[in-house]
Amino acid sequence: MRVEILRLLGDGGFVSGEYIAKHLGVSRTAVWKQIKSLQNMGYEIESVKNKGYRLVSRPDIPIAEEVTLGLDTQVIGKDIYYFKSLPSTNLFAKKLVKDGVEEGAIVVSDIQLSGRGRKSRNWFSPEGGLWFSVVLYPHIPPERGMLLTMASSVAIVQGIKETTGLHPMIKWPNDLLINGKKICGILTELDAEMDRINYTVIGIGINVNNQLREDLQGKATSLIQETGSRVSRVKLLRSILKCFDEDYSRLISGDYDFIRDSWFSHANIIGRNIRVHGEKTILKGVVSSVDESGCLILDTKNGSVRVVSGDVEYL
Ligand code: BTN
Repeated sequence: MRVEILRLLGDGGFVSGEYIAKHLGVSRTAVWKQIKSLQNMGYEIESVKNKGYRLVSRPDIPIAEEVTLGLDTQVIGKDIYYFKSLPSTNLFAKKLVKDGVEEGAIVVSDIQLSGRGRKSRNWFSPEGGLWFSVVLYPHIPPERGMLLTMASSVAIVQGIKETTGLHPMIKWPNDLLINGKKICGILTELDAEMDRINYTVIGIGINVNNQLREDLQGKATSLIQETGSRVSRVKLLRSILKCFDEDYSRLISGDYDFIRDSWFSHANIIGRNIRVHGEKTILKGVVSSVDESGCLILDTKNGSVRVVSGDVEYL
């Protein structure tokens, strides 16, 4: 009912409690209770005798009531699980998968107490950032799994561009940079058999209005730092979900080239001289291609090498 009340309140004048109650077929007391709960959630709603209710301001909290407003996606973002604090949105999303949650569910938390990064690193997740995970059951071959991360990177680039005007660059395999500094990281966890993907949880961490960890100054940045003003997390999330939903439906319909081409157009990696720091090895060479599975093809002094994972350093 809260979503309907917000819709009726719109963004402007007073709407009487009687009108809302009639429209929704409930009592005025029921409306009043929902208004109270919206106020507790952070909505500023003015209540004036004989005039009714007026929505003064909305909170920038990625709750379903806000994010789904005007969001017309097919799959992604149909269900939104919002928390003030969680150990990790990826961990919670995997629990939801076990409980049989529907495809496209989003888990978002204001704070993560044990946010996880790639290679078992910690991911600093204080208030003000956008920390969320997407649950998907993609019917694509497991060897194409990397395209899921690619599609999400492209959606984040588009979302950031649409919301702030900034244009991040993708750094292989799945970092997003603005002015050479990391703005976003993606942790894709995949459960697959030989011939099918059972599920994937795509965890996305974007530095929006949050503080950065002291030791990351110079290496990381945030949207507030880059734009000079606060960025709406709700608008950003909505925009990313919309773009991701479109790209995801192209991906599962088999349009792999479209995803790869969009990814390439934001990655600027071909022909670059790089060093890749792997688990045990360091490789140096020039990137000649990114293959169909999303692996880097590197021309090294010992010939062509296919790189599955690692941290890239531009030389
Ligand atoms: C990286 O190491 O670059 C990936 C970082 C991914 C962080 C996000 S924040 C939301 C989701 N939940 C987690 O615990 N990690 C991912």
